[in-house]
Amino acid sequence: VSLLPFHTFGIPCEAKWLVEVDAVETLSELKAHPTLSSQPWLVLGGGSNLLPTKDYAGLVLRMTAKGKRIIKEDDDHVWIKAEAGENWHDFVQWTLANQWYGLENLSLIPGTVGASPIQNIGAYGVEVKDCFESLTAWHKADDTVITLSNADCQFGYRDSIFKQALKDKAIILSVTFRLNKQPSLKTAYGEIAKELANQHISEPTPRHVADAVIAIRQRKLPDPTQIGNAGSFFKNPVIATDIADEIATRFPNVVRYPAGDGLTKLAAGWLIDQCGWKGKSLGNAGVYEQQALVLVNRGGATGEEVLALSNAIIKSVQDTFGVTLEPEPIIL
Ligand code: EPU
Repeated sequence: VSLLPFHTFGIPCEAKWLVEVDAVETLSELKAHPTLSSQPWLVLGGGSNLLPTKDYAGLVLRMTAKGKRIIKEDDDHVWIKAEAGENWHDFVQWTLANQWYGLENLSLIPGTVGASPIQNIGAYGVEVKDCFESLTAWHKADDTVITLSNADCQFGYRDSIFKQALKDKAIILSVTFRLNKQPSLKTAYGEIAKELANQHISEPTPRHVADAVIAIRQRKLPDPTQIGNAGSFFKNPVIATDIADEIATRFPNVVRYPAGDGLTKLAAGWLIDQCGWKGKSLGNAGVYEQQALVLVNRGGATGEEVLALSNAIIKSVQDTFGVTLEPEPIIL
């Protein structure tokens, strides 16, 4: 089965089996299936965080369950439960249209609701964990549905328990968000403030913030329906602050952010840009012109070509700055 329609890098790739899952019963049946049960499983949301480099000799699951509803409400908040297969951006726009706030900065992120907690998606000063209440997931070994609270998920920068202890062990079915009835805007991120000022908006609404984010993303990030990509290809590296200080003596313009307790986060896009990679290509794989953190398929790229480009970038950032970049997408 071709996975081409189900991921965003535009790279041909086949899976041995593909099953669409819209109910937990299907997962129980697959677990009991004589052949499929023992195969490797790969769960796909929107396929926007995947680099295929070869065919997949296992079972791909597409989580397609739809639905969203209020499950609780008080004077200040509303709790919305959404099924894993809901499109993330459409869900965010729906919450805004209903005047439930908190997710506006996360507009236009590709992917699904069910995938959003796995890497704790984040942009422009907000992360999913800021509005996350709980989730339900199917635990494969026990064939049961478990509920995880915000603390249970162990959220970190681009990280959660689903990339650690529960990796390949549980499949997210639904996510509940706690949203605000009164807006509490996060506009400190430089680019949002600049965008609002350019549009002469002095008293922004959540809709203005969402529109600013959409405008910035459209300017800086390639539309995966036009140019194959998986968003940021690398995580921003988090390193010891004394090492960052040492780098800053050699490169005074290094872009850095405090990352808690003796740690500093560097802007990987800046590091890659400084190494001269922006706009460059290796074969049919390229570094996006507007944002060096994004690797793109310039047309007909193979997964191996993207990987070769990624490795060349990692090596040159390592040689120049002594910092090791880590790819962000799942490399298949
Ligand atoms: N920069 C450069 N050259 C570049 C790219 C960036 O000098 O080619 C500099 C920028 O000028 C800026 C700094 O690096 O000073 C940071 O750039 P930006 O604001 O674009 O954000 P980022 O750190 O590169 C992260 C997320 C994005 C998210 C933005 C906005 C990661 C891995 N990426 O990028 O997430 O949209 O912040 O909050 O944390 C994604 O995960 O797919 C993604 C797009």
